[in-house]
Amino acid sequence: GFPRQVRLVEMSPRDGLQNEPGPVIATAIKTGLIDRLADCGLRHIESASFVSPKWVPQMGDAAEVMAGINRQAGVRYSVLTPNLRGFEGAQAAGVDEVAVFAAASESFSQKNINCSIAESLERFLPVMEAAGKHRIPVRGYVSTVMGCPYEGDIDPQQVATVAKALYDMGCHEISLGDTIGVGTPLKAKRMLEAVAAHVPMANLAAHFHDTYGQALANLYAVLEEGVAVIDASVAGLGGCPYAKGASGNVATEDVLYLLNGLGIETGVDLDQLVATGHWICGQLNRHNGSKVGQALGGN
Ligand code: HMG
Ligand code: MG
Repeated sequence: GFPRQVRLVEMSPRDGLQNEPGPVIATAIKTGLIDRLADCGLRHIESASFVSPKWVPQMGDAAEVMAGINRQAGVRYSVLTPNLRGFEGAQAAGVDEVAVFAAASESFSQKNINCSIAESLERFLPVMEAAGKHRIPVRGYVSTVMGCPYEGDIDPQQVATVAKALYDMGCHEISLGDTIGVGTPLKAKRMLEAVAAHVPMANLAAHFHDTYGQALANLYAVLEEGVAVIDASVAGLGGCPYAKGASGNVATEDVLYLLNGLGIETGVDLDQLVATGHWICGQLNRHNGSKVGQALGGN
């Protein structure tokens, strides 16, 4: 059955902004977004990535972003760390949580982090060890869980294998990424069932992109199975440089409207979230990808 409460993990400052074309977005806009999101009641905000700025120029100011936000008590500010170097930067910046990211597809792993799946898992071990020493929790992502832009269909067992490897090395939560948004509800359920045979449901999160307009339907399907952590991005911000045509994460406003309708608690204020979506779209001169945002208007 449906969970009573859902924890929303806000992706827009990281997944939403990492591929924004054009000049690097000003640090003050990024920190302004993060502070507004915290004001909306979001309690877990993925705020930046400590990755190579050659690979992802928009995240090059991760340390400045972390230094510039107004930390709110009870909010978990997390960042991506692909290797030990990234972890060290993140730790120095005082983050509350880090995340390592692997893929269920070999080709996507190569394009995204320039190594095989097995090599990536090995590279995460020193991150896990250092994080353990500093008592910083680590989240793990599995990308391309319902399809890969290079390999097409992905076997749910392959997703389960990678998810289990991340869980076994100490990731407290495994976020299952439909990176290119090709999944449909039955596929989402089957994929989730395969993973949940190896990792407890309470430790799984759904990270669905909305490229084919299926993300809310897919979320409804996995909510029914008991998933209680959902990644989303305000205004549907985002895209993927290694996945042609891919759109952003499902819009947080749209997920919240769905959850409110189901009577599932989140602690997030919809009106304030809608205003935040319009604010960031104004700053970026970008279309608002949230249907709920469009319906409830600006200001
Ligand atoms: P590489 O080129 O194989 O590794 O990149 P390298 O060790 O040779 O490093 C290359 C350069 O980057 C060197 O600099 C390093 O010093 C530097 P140079 O000597 O050329 O001047 N470098 C770093 N700089 C800053 N911070 C670091 C760092 N590490 C190395 N941590 C690497 C390997 C992993 C670094 C690279 O491929 C990379 O940074 N990739 C990031 C890709 C990325 O961020 N992708 C988007 C996030 S994943 C995603 O969006 C999916 C998700 O949302 C889930 C879903 O939707 O499915 C999570
Ligand atoms: Mg993503």
